[in-house]
Amino acid sequence: MQGVFQHLDAALRPDGQVLVNLGLIHRDNEWQPYWAGWLDWMRARGWRRFGLYTWDQGPGLPGDWNGRLSPAFELLFHFNREARRPNKIIPCRWAGHVNSEKGGLRAKDGTVGEWQHAGQGVQETRIPDNVLRITRHKARGIETEHPAVFPVVLPEFLMRAYTDETEVVFEPFGGSGTTILAGQRTDRRVRAIELAPAYVDLAIARWRMLHPDLPVTLADDGRDYDAVAAARMEVTASAA
Ligand SMILES: C[S@@+](CC[C@H](N)C(=O)[O-])C[C@H]1O[C@@H](n2cnc3c(N)ncnc32)[C@H](O)[C@@H]1O
Repeated sequence: MQGVFQHLDAALRPDGQVLVNLGLIHRDNEWQPYWAGWLDWMRARGWRRFGLYTWDQGPGLPGDWNGRLSPAFELLFHFNREARRPNKIIPCRWAGHVNSEKGGLRAKDGTVGEWQHAGQGVQETRIPDNVLRITRHKARGIETEHPAVFPVVLPEFLMRAYTDETEVVFEPFGGSGTTILAGQRTDRRVRAIELAPAYVDLAIARWRMLHPDLPVTLADDGRDYDAVAAARMEVTASAA
Protein backbone atom coordinates (compact mmCIF):
# COMPACT_ATOMS: atom_id res chain seq x y z
CA MET A 1 0.00 0.00 0.00
CA GLN A 2 2.77 2.42 0.93
CA GLY A 3 4.69 1.59 -2.25
CA VAL A 4 1.70 2.68 -4.33
CA PHE A 5 0.34 5.55 -2.23
CA GLN A 6 3.68 7.33 -1.93
CA HIS A 7 3.15 8.34 -5.58
CA LEU A 8 -0.33 9.83 -5.08
CA ASP A 9 0.89 13.42 -5.20
CA ALA A 10 2.39 12.88 -8.64
CA ALA A 11 -0.87 11.38 -9.90
CA LEU A 12 -3.55 13.59 -8.33
CA ARG A 13 -4.74 17.18 -8.41
CA PRO A 14 -4.55 19.05 -5.09
CA ASP A 15 -8.30 18.52 -4.62
CA GLY A 16 -8.09 14.82 -5.54
CA GLN A 17 -10.22 12.49 -3.41
CA VAL A 18 -8.77 9.10 -2.47
CA LEU A 19 -11.29 6.30 -1.87
CA VAL A 20 -10.00 2.90 -0.81
CA ASN A 21 -12.20 -0.17 -0.29
CA LEU A 22 -10.93 -2.72 2.27
CA GLY A 23 -12.60 -5.82 3.66
CA LEU A 24 -12.18 -7.56 7.01
CA ILE A 25 -9.46 -10.12 7.51
CA HIS A 26 -9.48 -12.57 10.46
CA ARG A 27 -6.42 -14.22 11.91
CA ASP A 28 -5.89 -16.04 15.24
CA ASN A 29 -9.64 -15.74 15.94
CA GLU A 30 -9.60 -11.93 15.71
CA TRP A 31 -10.35 -9.43 13.00
CA GLN A 32 -7.18 -7.58 12.13
CA PRO A 33 -6.91 -3.77 12.04
CA TYR A 34 -4.34 -4.23 9.28
CA TRP A 35 -5.01 -0.74 7.98
CA ALA A 36 -3.80 0.97 11.21
CA GLY A 37 -0.14 1.43 10.27
CA TRP A 38 -1.05 2.54 6.77
CA LEU A 39 -3.58 5.10 8.07
CA ASP A 40 -0.92 6.68 10.27
CA TRP A 41 1.53 6.64 7.39
CA MET A 42 -1.02 8.38 5.10
CA ARG A 43 -1.77 10.96 7.78
CA ALA A 44 1.93 11.71 8.29
CA ARG A 45 2.01 12.61 4.57
CA GLY A 46 -0.90 15.00 4.88
CA TRP A 47 -3.70 12.66 3.74
CA ARG A 48 -6.48 13.36 6.23
CA ARG A 49 -8.78 10.56 7.44
CA PHE A 50 -11.59 12.59 5.91
CA GLY A 51 -14.43 10.07 5.77
CA LEU A 52 -15.28 6.48 6.65
CA TYR A 53 -18.09 4.77 4.77
CA THR A 54 -19.64 1.33 4.64
CA TRP A 55 -20.34 -0.72 1.57
CA ASP A 56 -23.50 -2.69 2.41
CA GLN A 57 -23.22 -5.66 0.06
CA GLY A 58 -26.76 -6.89 0.53
CA PRO A 59 -27.86 -10.17 2.13
CA GLY A 60 -25.03 -12.39 3.37
CA LEU A 61 -24.21 -15.68 1.69
CA PRO A 62 -25.16 -19.08 3.08
CA GLY A 63 -22.24 -20.83 4.76
CA ASP A 64 -20.41 -21.44 8.01
CA TRP A 65 -18.48 -18.39 9.19
CA ASN A 66 -16.59 -19.93 12.13
CA GLY A 67 -19.04 -18.66 14.72
CA ARG A 68 -19.38 -15.16 13.26
CA LEU A 69 -22.35 -13.63 11.49
CA SER A 70 -22.34 -13.83 7.72
CA PRO A 71 -20.11 -11.09 6.23
CA ALA A 72 -22.10 -8.46 4.34
CA PHE A 73 -20.09 -5.22 4.45
CA GLU A 74 -16.71 -3.72 3.66
CA LEU A 75 -15.17 -0.37 4.57
CA LEU A 76 -14.40 2.60 2.36
CA PHE A 77 -11.68 4.94 3.57
CA HIS A 78 -11.85 8.48 2.17
CA PHE A 79 -8.71 10.65 2.29
CA ASN A 80 -8.04 14.11 0.95
CA ARG A 81 -6.02 17.25 1.41
CA GLU A 82 -8.86 19.53 0.28
CA ALA A 83 -12.56 18.72 0.51
CA ARG A 84 -14.59 18.50 -2.68
CA ARG A 85 -18.36 18.80 -2.48
CA PRO A 86 -19.97 15.51 -3.60
CA ASN A 87 -22.41 15.68 -6.49
CA LYS A 88 -26.09 15.35 -5.64
CA ILE A 89 -26.78 12.14 -7.55
CA ILE A 90 -29.58 10.58 -5.51
CA PRO A 91 -33.13 11.46 -6.57
CA CYS A 92 -35.24 12.92 -3.73
CA ARG A 93 -38.45 11.15 -2.90
CA TRP A 94 -40.44 14.36 -2.81
CA ALA A 95 -38.71 16.05 -5.77
CA GLY A 96 -40.94 18.58 -7.49
CA HIS A 97 -43.20 18.99 -4.43
CA VAL A 98 -43.42 22.12 -2.37
CA ASN A 99 -42.42 21.30 1.19
CA SER A 100 -45.75 21.38 2.95
CA GLU A 101 -47.78 19.46 5.51
CA LYS A 102 -48.41 16.85 2.79
CA GLY A 103 -44.85 15.64 2.25
CA GLY A 104 -41.15 16.46 2.14
CA LEU A 105 -38.89 17.05 5.10
CA ARG A 106 -40.38 17.10 8.59
CA ALA A 107 -39.24 17.76 12.10
CA LYS A 108 -39.22 14.83 14.59
CA ASP A 109 -42.74 15.74 15.73
CA GLY A 110 -44.00 15.58 12.13
CA THR A 111 -44.45 19.33 11.63
CA VAL A 112 -43.02 21.30 8.72
CA GLY A 113 -41.48 24.57 9.80
CA GLU A 114 -38.77 27.04 8.92
CA TRP A 115 -35.97 24.50 9.44
CA GLN A 116 -37.63 22.14 6.99
CA HIS A 117 -37.86 24.91 4.36
CA ALA A 118 -41.65 25.18 4.60
CA GLY A 119 -43.25 26.45 1.39
CA GLN A 120 -40.11 25.92 -0.68
CA GLY A 121 -39.61 23.34 -3.43
CA VAL A 122 -37.99 20.06 -2.38
CA GLN A 123 -34.67 19.67 -4.23
CA GLU A 124 -34.55 17.17 -7.08
CA THR A 125 -31.46 15.30 -5.93
CA ARG A 126 -29.36 14.96 -2.81
CA ILE A 127 -25.91 13.89 -1.60
CA PRO A 128 -25.51 10.09 -1.26
CA ASP A 129 -25.61 8.35 2.13
CA ASN A 130 -22.39 7.18 3.75
CA VAL A 131 -23.75 3.62 3.60
CA LEU A 132 -23.42 2.50 -0.01
CA ARG A 133 -26.14 -0.05 -0.65
CA ILE A 134 -24.74 -1.94 -3.61
CA THR A 135 -25.49 -5.63 -3.89
CA ARG A 136 -22.46 -7.83 -4.39
CA HIS A 137 -22.86 -10.05 -7.40
CA LYS A 138 -20.87 -12.67 -9.15
CA ALA A 139 -18.64 -11.09 -11.78
CA ARG A 140 -20.11 -13.20 -14.54
CA GLY A 141 -17.49 -15.20 -16.46
CA ILE A 142 -14.44 -13.93 -14.60
CA GLU A 143 -15.09 -14.87 -10.97
CA THR A 144 -12.61 -17.74 -11.26
CA GLU A 145 -9.95 -15.57 -12.88
CA HIS A 146 -9.53 -12.80 -10.30
CA PRO A 147 -10.22 -13.25 -6.57
CA ALA A 148 -11.34 -9.72 -5.69
CA VAL A 149 -13.59 -8.35 -8.41
CA PHE A 150 -15.98 -5.66 -7.17
CA PRO A 151 -19.23 -4.77 -8.97
CA VAL A 152 -18.88 -2.11 -11.69
CA VAL A 153 -21.60 -0.14 -9.91
CA LEU A 154 -19.31 0.51 -6.90
CA PRO A 155 -16.62 2.57 -8.72
CA GLU A 156 -19.38 3.96 -10.96
CA PHE A 157 -21.22 5.33 -7.94
CA LEU A 158 -18.09 6.92 -6.45
CA MET A 159 -17.11 8.46 -9.79
CA ARG A 160 -20.55 10.01 -10.18
CA ALA A 161 -20.34 11.31 -6.61
CA TYR A 162 -16.84 12.80 -6.68
CA THR A 163 -15.98 13.58 -10.31
CA ASP A 164 -17.59 15.29 -13.25
CA GLU A 165 -17.85 13.96 -16.80
CA THR A 166 -14.54 13.79 -18.72
CA GLU A 167 -12.47 14.16 -15.54
CA VAL A 168 -9.60 11.74 -14.98
CA VAL A 169 -9.77 8.94 -12.39
CA PHE A 170 -6.64 7.09 -11.25
CA GLU A 171 -6.93 3.38 -10.34
CA PRO A 172 -3.64 2.04 -8.96
CA PHE A 173 -5.01 -1.47 -8.35
CA GLY A 174 -6.55 -2.24 -11.74
CA GLY A 175 -7.22 -5.95 -11.19
CA SER A 176 -9.74 -7.23 -13.71
CA GLY A 177 -10.45 -3.72 -15.00
CA THR A 178 -13.70 -2.98 -13.16
CA THR A 179 -12.88 0.72 -12.66
CA ILE A 180 -12.04 1.08 -16.36
CA LEU A 181 -15.48 -0.29 -17.26
CA ALA A 182 -17.09 2.14 -14.79
CA GLY A 183 -15.25 5.01 -16.49
CA GLN A 184 -16.70 4.04 -19.84
CA ARG A 185 -20.20 3.96 -18.36
CA THR A 186 -19.86 7.37 -16.73
CA ASP A 187 -17.81 9.21 -19.37
CA ARG A 188 -14.80 9.57 -17.08
CA ARG A 189 -11.25 8.92 -18.29
CA VAL A 190 -9.57 6.18 -16.26
CA ARG A 191 -5.80 5.76 -15.92
CA ALA A 192 -5.24 2.32 -14.38
CA ILE A 193 -2.15 0.30 -13.53
CA GLU A 194 -1.89 -3.34 -12.51
CA LEU A 195 1.10 -5.28 -11.22
CA ALA A 196 0.24 -8.77 -12.54
CA PRO A 197 0.52 -9.13 -16.35
CA ALA A 198 -2.08 -11.90 -16.34
CA TYR A 199 -4.64 -9.51 -14.80
CA VAL A 200 -3.78 -6.85 -17.38
CA ASP A 201 -4.61 -9.39 -20.09
CA LEU A 202 -7.79 -10.29 -18.21
CA ALA A 203 -8.82 -6.62 -17.99
CA ILE A 204 -8.23 -6.15 -21.72
CA ALA A 205 -10.15 -9.33 -22.58
CA ARG A 206 -13.04 -8.20 -20.36
CA TRP A 207 -13.07 -4.75 -21.94
CA ARG A 208 -13.10 -6.21 -25.45
CA MET A 209 -15.90 -8.61 -24.61
CA LEU A 210 -18.10 -5.68 -23.56
CA HIS A 211 -16.84 -3.18 -26.15
CA PRO A 212 -15.90 -5.18 -29.26
CA ASP A 213 -16.36 -2.08 -31.41
CA LEU A 214 -13.74 0.04 -29.61
CA PRO A 215 -10.07 -0.32 -30.63
CA VAL A 216 -7.36 -1.27 -28.11
CA THR A 217 -3.99 0.28 -28.93
CA LEU A 218 -0.63 0.41 -27.17
CA ALA A 219 -0.01 3.97 -26.03
CA ASP A 220 3.76 3.98 -26.58
CA ASP A 221 3.61 3.76 -30.36
CA GLY A 222 -0.05 3.45 -31.24
CA ARG A 223 0.29 -0.15 -32.45
CA ASP A 224 -2.84 -2.27 -32.44
CA TYR A 225 -3.10 -4.71 -29.51
CA ASP A 226 -4.11 -7.60 -31.82
CA ALA A 227 -1.07 -7.07 -34.04
CA VAL A 228 1.28 -7.10 -31.04
CA ALA A 229 -0.41 -10.15 -29.50
CA ALA A 230 -0.12 -11.98 -32.86
CA ALA A 231 3.57 -11.02 -33.17
CA ARG A 232 4.19 -12.33 -29.65
CA MET A 233 2.53 -15.62 -30.61
CA GLU A 234 4.80 -15.91 -33.69
CA VAL A 235 7.94 -15.38 -31.60
CA THR A 236 6.77 -17.96 -29.07
CA ALA A 237 5.91 -20.48 -31.82
CA SER A 238 9.24 -20.13 -33.66
CA ALA A 239 11.17 -20.45 -30.39
CA ALA A 240 9.38 -23.70 -29.58
C1 LIG B 1 -8.04 -6.28 -4.55
S1 LIG B 1 -7.46 -6.37 -6.19
C2 LIG B 1 -8.45 -5.18 -7.02
C3 LIG B 1 -9.47 -5.83 -7.89
C4 LIG B 1 -10.39 -4.86 -8.60
N1 LIG B 1 -11.16 -4.11 -7.64
C5 LIG B 1 -11.31 -5.60 -9.55
O1 LIG B 1 -12.54 -5.39 -9.49
O2 LIG B 1 -10.82 -6.39 -10.35
C6 LIG B 1 -5.91 -5.58 -6.07
C7 LIG B 1 -5.10 -5.66 -7.34
O3 LIG B 1 -3.96 -4.84 -7.18
C8 LIG B 1 -2.85 -5.47 -7.77
N2 LIG B 1 -1.66 -4.93 -7.12
C9 LIG B 1 -1.14 -5.23 -5.93
N3 LIG B 1 -0.06 -4.48 -5.67
C10 LIG B 1 0.08 -3.65 -6.71
C11 LIG B 1 1.01 -2.64 -7.04
N4 LIG B 1 2.02 -2.37 -6.21
N5 LIG B 1 0.85 -1.97 -8.19
C12 LIG B 1 -0.17 -2.27 -9.03
N6 LIG B 1 -1.07 -3.25 -8.78
C13 LIG B 1 -0.94 -3.91 -7.65
C14 LIG B 1 -3.07 -6.95 -7.57
O4 LIG B 1 -2.41 -7.72 -8.57
C15 LIG B 1 -4.59 -7.06 -7.67
O5 LIG B 1 -4.98 -7.38 -8.99
